[in-house]
Amino acid sequence: MENNLTISARDDLFHAKTYARQPLVIKEGKGSLVYDENGKEYIDLSSGIAVNTFGIADDEWVAAVSEQLGKLQHMSNLFYTEPVAKLAEALCKKTSMKRAFFCNSGAEANECAIKAARKYSQDKYVKERYKIITLVNSFHGRTMATLTATGQDVFHNDFTPMLDGFYYAAAGDIDAVRSYVNKGDVAAIMFEIVQGEGGVMPLDKTFVAALADIAKQNDILLICDEVQCGNGRCGKYFAYELYDIKPDIVTTAKGLGGGLPIGATLFSEKTGDVLTPSTHGSTFGGNPIACAAALNVVNRIDDELLAEVIKKGEYIKKTLEGKEGIKSVSGLGLMLGIETDKSASEIVEKCRDNGVIVITAKTKVRLLPPLNIPWELLQKAVEVIIDACKEE
Ligand SMILES: Cc1ncc(COP(=O)(O)O)c(C=O)c1O
Repeated sequence: MENNLTISARDDLFHAKTYARQPLVIKEGKGSLVYDENGKEYIDLSSGIAVNTFGIADDEWVAAVSEQLGKLQHMSNLFYTEPVAKLAEALCKKTSMKRAFFCNSGAEANECAIKAARKYSQDKYVKERYKIITLVNSFHGRTMATLTATGQDVFHNDFTPMLDGFYYAAAGDIDAVRSYVNKGDVAAIMFEIVQGEGGVMPLDKTFVAALADIAKQNDILLICDEVQCGNGRCGKYFAYELYDIKPDIVTTAKGLGGGLPIGATLFSEKTGDVLTPSTHGSTFGGNPIACAAALNVVNRIDDELLAEVIKKGEYIKKTLEGKEGIKSVSGLGLMLGIETDKSASEIVEKCRDNGVIVITAKTKVRLLPPLNIPWELLQKAVEVIIDACKEE
């Protein structure tokens, strides 16, 4: 009997119930367009949650991945491989960081950052100096440490006890940060420049400058979680570049691989030599295919593309702001959140019916289109959103 199940029924029956999936089976795509199992076309403004940097099956990206696939799919970190060395160099040169460690996801990149921050602090000071300040409303992942780092109770509730080692301050509350720092046991401050899962909320520039100042005065590490807002998404390679700070550790994933799983933790001059042989590692980290994919993505995020990202983001904001049913638009570059009169899920559904895929972030409609989405598709999709937000 199970032979006759539809794809969604089969998934509902056999996959863990971890996802509230939209009622749509995506079969394939090309660029910023995707097609469902019945051949209906959609403009995709979600990019697999900021992953498909150049959309689906981008020719250059496919060529880079295919070439590597025919050469070496995996070795192990007991050996050197070309894609790892080249990607590490490309990322360091792009960002003036000193070293890169590769893993498979955003959560793992943050786990690595947390470990490195603790080790930096304990190597230099005392074992008890290990706390990490994170922000209320942040999201850092779903492993136990990154879940604990995540400053949203809603994610903690079913999984207590959380781990030891984290303080939470509200974004903008520099006094709270200072009072934690004064306890003398803080190793690092970790934050997203734009809180993605928290509702596409960019941090205030003076707050970030104050964080950097406190960190510098107290030899506390600044960790930027660029898992969602990095890799060109906000109009610079990393969003922190818009804030004029120099983090000690940067984590990223999602858009880095353009659709293959890879995460990276980047270390500055100060933290570059903290992790030493056998203090950290990953079987799949630095997988040659994922690295070849990421190398293609990193090399193509140039000034021209970033200027387009900014232009397209400004166009979306300008076109949506003030329209019927739209209260506000937040975010940077092509990472945007729309506050609407109707519920976000209603807008998602209406857009989907009319051939546009958008997602949500808390109560907002979230837009994360491919960075190279063609103007005509973007304009068409924005009109669909405007229409969906109007009163019936
Ligand atoms: C800012 C941020 N950090 C970390 C993560 C976790 O990444 P992953 O799902 O790849 O583990 C996410 C995922 O949404 C994220 O947005």
